[in-house]
Amino acid sequence: MSPEAGSRTLGVGSDATRFAHPWDPSTPPFAAEAFDLQDKLYALHCAEGPVPKATAAAVRAFMEKELRPWELAWQEDALGLPARARKGAAALIGMKEEDISLTSSTSAGLQAIAMGFPWEEGDEVLAPLGEFPSNAYPWKALARRGVSFREVRIFSGHRSGADALASAAPGTESDSEARILAALSRRTRVLALSWVRFQDGLKLDLARLGQACQDRGVHLVVDGIQGAGTHLPDLRWASAFATGSHKGLLAPQGAGFLWTSPALRSLLQPMGTWLGVVDGDNFARPSTDFHRDWLADGRALEPGGPPVLAALALATSMETILDAGLDALSAHVHALQARFLEGLSDIPDWRSEALRLERLRIEGRLGALLALHHRGEDDSAHLTLMRKGLKAGIFTSVREGYLRIAFHGWHGAADVERLLGWIGGGATGTASSP
Ligand SMILES: Cc1ncc(COP(=O)(O)O)c(C=O)c1O
Repeated sequence: MSPEAGSRTLGVGSDATRFAHPWDPSTPPFAAEAFDLQDKLYALHCAEGPVPKATAAAVRAFMEKELRPWELAWQEDALGLPARARKGAAALIGMKEEDISLTSSTSAGLQAIAMGFPWEEGDEVLAPLGEFPSNAYPWKALARRGVSFREVRIFSGHRSGADALASAAPGTESDSEARILAALSRRTRVLALSWVRFQDGLKLDLARLGQACQDRGVHLVVDGIQGAGTHLPDLRWASAFATGSHKGLLAPQGAGFLWTSPALRSLLQPMGTWLGVVDGDNFARPSTDFHRDWLADGRALEPGGPPVLAALALATSMETILDAGLDALSAHVHALQARFLEGLSDIPDWRSEALRLERLRIEGRLGALLALHHRGEDDSAHLTLMRKGLKAGIFTSVREGYLRIAFHGWHGAADVERLLGWIGGGATGTASSP
């Protein structure tokens, strides 16, 4: 791989072409004043994203209106705010607004599919080993309908569950997609997987998986929460994409959205909600006239009355992201990662991890989450480091043997230096942005 134009390189022999970062990460796409992160270095949106001040202000203003309900408008608020959220959601994943359903979480989106799919006894759901539980239990709950949930190892030495700490880490040689596709069986109706995995941070190739699934009549259902808000998914061959609001989408918990292809949606049982039918929102027609068709669009899968407050928060946060630009955010995150990994490779203890992750980054196999593996020991050193960081206002997390550092659009080059100071055992600094 040759260095990109204008990139910096590291003079380390065969690794000299790595760590290319043509994007200058010293100017974050988000203005520092857009958030209230103070002097904290918050690299933890993979657990919980910070809400922009604009979102908090919009929700506060709406709550003021709720004090005087005569100021609330059915069209503008109850219908308009969810419509605004659907529009933002569609823009963030590059798909159509009419295929979006607002939900309360990733789980709720996946449940709508699990519960509504026309299963037959003996059908199977396939998933990579070690999915976040939100993408396991909706499928496991189908056991009593005769549907099984089967997991497949996606890299050499891959372990999960009680053995998670004994797992190896993925590398560029893994070809996880090939392993997943080889595991599809005659019984597989749904392939359910995380776009970006919560523990090891691997980003799967949705286009490759989706195309192969379509060829075999399998539905690709994606848990997208770890990539939404920083990256654009390629859903051309996918059947569904579910996400919650509280990570890269930078909204509070309790909101989310589901995208479904019209083909999958036509197979699903509607949720049976009063706004999921033709004219459901039109009080000029008697509400008790139950002779109506289900809506054909995503609203048929929404769980109930309009989630106005959640929709407002989600819409405002997503608009903040869209204003900054998803392309700019992805480029920025990757440039920060490149700079961080370059510095990490100078720390002897971390060098092999830095190189493993940089190879994955260059090949487009990472989302916003850098997951540093414990390298075969237990994770106590990671936990000690994470706790030391907390004391210095550096927020990271440890999951299943990985130390997770997640970059987003508010981080800058100074944050990278501060992280390197912390991880290398030196100064931890205080400034959160350049
Ligand atoms: C991959 C993944 N999926 C889903 C979730 C959360 O699911 P939900 O939105 O249902 O809470 C998380 C983290 O909390 C996650 O990392």
